Amino acid sequence: MKKAHIVVLPGDGIGPEVASAGVAVLRAVAERFGHAFTFTEHAIGGDAIDRFGDPLPPQTRDALLACDAILLGAVGGPKWSDPAAKVRPEQGLLAMRKLLGVFANVRPLKLHPRTAALSPLKPDRTAGVDLVFIRELTGGIYFGAKTRSETDATDECRYSVEEVERVVRHAFELARTRRRKVTSVDKANVLETSRLWRSVATRVAADYPDVALEHQLVDSMAMHLLTHPADYDVIVTENMFGDILTDEASVLAGSLGLSPSASIGGPGAGVYEPIHGSAPDIAGQSIANPLGTILSAAMLLRHSLGLADEAATVEAAVDHVLEHATLTRDLGGTATTHAVTRAVLDAIQSKAEAA
Ligand code: NAD
Ligand code: IPM
Ligand code: MN
Repeated sequence: MKKAHIVVLPGDGIGPEVASAGVAVLRAVAERFGHAFTFTEHAIGGDAIDRFGDPLPPQTRDALLACDAILLGAVGGPKWSDPAAKVRPEQGLLAMRKLLGVFANVRPLKLHPRTAALSPLKPDRTAGVDLVFIRELTGGIYFGAKTRSETDATDECRYSVEEVERVVRHAFELARTRRRKVTSVDKANVLETSRLWRSVATRVAADYPDVALEHQLVDSMAMHLLTHPADYDVIVTENMFGDILTDEASVLAGSLGLSPSASIGGPGAGVYEPIHGSAPDIAGQSIANPLGTILSAAMLLRHSLGLADEAATVEAAVDHVLEHATLTRDLGGTATTHAVTRAVLDAIQSKAEAA
């Protein structure tokens, strides 16, 4: 029996809709396997700005530092998006990542036969796609100095050797458990930070003679992801390139709404969240796809709680639901968020009966 305390950050837009699906799945897993999970909800993002004037209020920070794992919905939305606004929901997310030191953002991409048919790519291009992005998450242009005047603005991009080395090592270690190939993505033909990145990646690779390293420029990588995605295994890249490429890659699996993530590597709890945002265009309609969050909950079970069988049970339940075409609108179906979640819960439960 595993005891765990999980902080839930519903956030904004569809965030609360998908976060509650993730919590329901974790509760079902606890029941099925006899674990004791407790949950507390805390404010982040626009919701926290409205209630406390701060996108990451002190009580949320304290809770993040005293839990076993964190499940997040999404933050942001038009209400808080005035370019002149002093404070933004997204600052809460970035402050949380920095506070927890979660420098490695793991974003896996696997295709399910049912949803592969929804990919904009032809099936012969997507056959065999099974890759993982490791996106650097606590450095780069997101966290550099910013300036703004009437006439110009700057965002500084800075990386230290240490920041690059730890995330690249993470990618090599992961590749050793997979197909032993790392693709390091940069813009070394233009950016100094990318030249540093490339030299560190090359040096680290010498410690992993059993893993192949290739370097790829980010612009052509955006193309290769569409022309031969099945050739990639582990892709490691800096913060902003990883943000952009992973939204692009998610569509290969059929929808942005399917992609999960784990943000790990810090001394404390990991953060688990779908890669999508708060989807203001569909918020409040109960049509958001909850599977990216549910698969993030599976990553939480595996990475933060060490519960591999439980994680596999959730992933199998998601496969089962996709197989039986209980699909939200983004996947061409008509099922509600609640109906898809219910189908996943039923699949977890029926496995319990079969066991
Ligand atoms: P988005 O990811 O919210 O939405 C992009 C498109 O994908 C929209 O058409 C949306 O309806 C659709 N979509 C996203 N998730 C879906 C789901 N689960 N099911 C079905 N369809 C889904 O990106 P955006 O519109 O550019 O950003 C909206 C807000 O979200 C912004 O404020 C942005 O900063 C924020 N954001 C937050 C996070 C996060 O909290 N981690 C991530 C990305 C964007
Ligand atoms: C993500 C989001 C965030 C990011 C935003 C909302 C700050 O797009 O988690 O991918 O860019 O990291
Ligand atoms: Mn993003």
